[in-house]
Amino acid sequence: MAEIRRFSKSQIAIHVLGAFSILVLYITGLPITFPDQIGWIPALLGGYSITMLIHRIAAVGFIVAGVYLVVYHGLYDIFVGRSYFTDVWIKIKDIKDAINDAKHILRLSVDKPPRYGKYSWIAKAEFWSFFSEAAIFLVTGSILWFSWQSMAFMPPQYLLTARYIHAGFAVVSVCGIAFHSYMVHFNPENFRIDRCIFTGSMPEEEVKEKYPRWYEELQRGDNSGAE
Ligand code: HEM
Repeated sequence: MAEIRRFSKSQIAIHVLGAFSILVLYITGLPITFPDQIGWIPALLGGYSITMLIHRIAAVGFIVAGVYLVVYHGLYDIFVGRSYFTDVWIKIKDIKDAINDAKHILRLSVDKPPRYGKYSWIAKAEFWSFFSEAAIFLVTGSILWFSWQSMAFMPPQYLLTARYIHAGFAVVSVCGIAFHSYMVHFNPENFRIDRCIFTGSMPEEEVKEKYPRWYEELQRGDNSGAE
C-alpha cells in the first residue's frame, strides 16, 4: 500500500527529544511537589540533589527542542516556504470545524463531519495549549533555577509564586499529556499505537479518510517542499 510522508526527519527528532525530556521532567519534578506520595522516586535516583540535577538536564533538552522547533520551522516558513507553522496556525475554518464536530458528536446536526486539512483543529489546539504551557515552564523554571539572580530584580515572594505556578502547571499539563496519548495512541482508531510520528509516513488510504482536504492538496501538488 502506498505511503504518504506526513512528518519530516526534523519533526520526528523534535518530537522524540521533546517527549523524552517532558517524561523525565515529570518523573523528577512531581515527587518534589508530592513527597509523601511519590518521594520514593528521588530516593531511587540517589537523592534530592541528583534528582534536581536530572530535572535541569531534561529542562535543557526541553528548551533545545523548543528553540529548534521555533527557529528551524520559523525561518523555514519565512525563507523557504511552507513549514510546520504554516499548517498549524489556527484558522477560521478550524473554529467552524470545532463547532461542527461538537454539533455532530451531540447529534445536533445531520451534516457530514468536518473534512480536515493536514492538522485537525484538535491537533492544533493541543499544539498551541502545550506551546503556551512550555513558555510558562520556561519562565518559572528559569526563575527557580537562577533564584539568586532573580532576586536581584524581583521581591523574594515572587520565587514562591513561580514555584506554585510551576508545580500547578505540572499537575494541569498532565491532563494535556493524557489527552494527547489518548488521541494518538489509545483511541480505538489508532489503538495500540500510531507509528506515524516515529516512521514519518502514513498509508495513503488512511490519509484519504482522516485528512481529505490535505489529500486533495497533495493530489494538486500544493504541498511541495513542505517541511
Ligand atoms: C514539562 C515541563 C516541566 C515540568 C512538568 C516540571 C515540573 C516541575 C515540578 C513539579 C517541580 C517541583 C515544584 C515544587 O513543588 O517545588 C519542578 C521544580 C523545578 N523545575 Fe521544573 N518542570 C518542567 C520544566 C522545567 C524547565 C523548562 C525548567 C528550567 C528552565 C525547570 C526548572 C525547575 C527548577 C529549577 C525547579 C526547582 C528545583 C529545586 O527545588 O531545586 N523545570 N519542576
